[in-house]
Amino acid sequence: MLRIGVVGVGYWGPNLIRNFVANAQTEMKMCCDLRRERLDYIQSLYPTIKVTENCQEIVQSTEVDLVAICTPVFTHYEIAKKALEAGKHVLIEKPMTSTSAEGEELLNIATQKGLHVFVDHTFIFTGAVGKIKDLVTSGELGDLYYFDSTRVNLGLFQHDVNVLWDLAPHDISIMHYVLNEDPEAVVATGADHLGSGIENVAYLTVYFPNNLLAHINTNWLSPVKIRQTLIAGSKKMVVWDDNQPSEKVRVYDKGIEVIKSADEVYNMLIQYRTGDMFCPKIDSKEALGAEVNHIVKCISNGHTSVISGEAGLMVVKILEAAQESIKSRGKEIKI
Ligand SMILES: NC(=O)c1ccc[n+]([C@@H]2O[C@H](COP(=O)([O-])OP(=O)(O)OC[C@H]3O[C@@H](n4cnc5c(N)ncnc54)[C@H](O)[C@@H]3O)[C@@H](O)[C@H]2O)c1
Repeated sequence: MLRIGVVGVGYWGPNLIRNFVANAQTEMKMCCDLRRERLDYIQSLYPTIKVTENCQEIVQSTEVDLVAICTPVFTHYEIAKKALEAGKHVLIEKPMTSTSAEGEELLNIATQKGLHVFVDHTFIFTGAVGKIKDLVTSGELGDLYYFDSTRVNLGLFQHDVNVLWDLAPHDISIMHYVLNEDPEAVVATGADHLGSGIENVAYLTVYFPNNLLAHINTNWLSPVKIRQTLIAGSKKMVVWDDNQPSEKVRVYDKGIEVIKSADEVYNMLIQYRTGDMFCPKIDSKEALGAEVNHIVKCISNGHTSVISGEAGLMVVKILEAAQESIKSRGKEIKI
């Protein structure tokens, strides 16, 4: 039985608690928040969970094996460091930390102590991403050309992080998991239309080896909510529309074939290929439930996690580089 303490029970924390309560191999022991009303709310739902306003009580508790940290991003490092130093595994919300230096320090402490760092890259556990990963790894899409993701809506404006740090961790973690490659460099641009110093629209381009390109569009000032990803390969292309209630993933047997004459590049012919489209069956299980199962398995078997601290650190490195690029209006930054 893996015993859990959750720090931060605002919007997202209760979702983790619900899944830890539902899992037969985890026991929800304690939770903490600075706001008494949030603790009262959790106690009204789960009277057996101990509550506290001081996260030190969870970190030091002998009844807790893993501390889940669901607080604002700037607090992740400090709470995770305390928990790791006290010998607890940690599950940290995305993005893992505010800087890559903080992330690296947490990974060093975890390695020294033989502890796991997980980062809640929830989307990795959705049926849609699982299916797309299968399509890529089986070679069904062919050689990959690009990954193009749009995550835009009206609000919720954050006060501590910009739109890229708020929304792009999802797309970056999906991109890194699906493409299974480390990027070479990023270019990003963005704008702050409120004068708050926090960008509300940002465009991120990520360069990978072998001419593979990714683009991520994030925006809090869009009149419509779009959650769409295109992935193109030499054989097939995928469109994932997460707003669709069903048939979220469509696989198109479409593409191009280039026919070059031996001597003249001007005689290059492009043939368009249009074949069938199919919608694979997608597992509709709750992603967080699958994530909790995965965490339990990794801790009990020592398996490497697909939401490891290293994966979390890569997301932070890309965000950090993107932030630097935004400051210089799109300078290329190596990863
Ligand atoms: N994985 C996902 O899909 C997903 C979705 C939403 C949010 N998140 C992440 O979850 C984290 C929290 O986001 P949220 O939307 O729940 O924020 P929130 O503001 O609704 O909740 C955060 C809670 O943490 C509490 N808190 C702050 N500092 C604390 C401390 N030192 N000790 C104890 N409690 C403290 C606050 O009082 C608040 O109740 C962020 O990192 C965010 O990016 C992840």
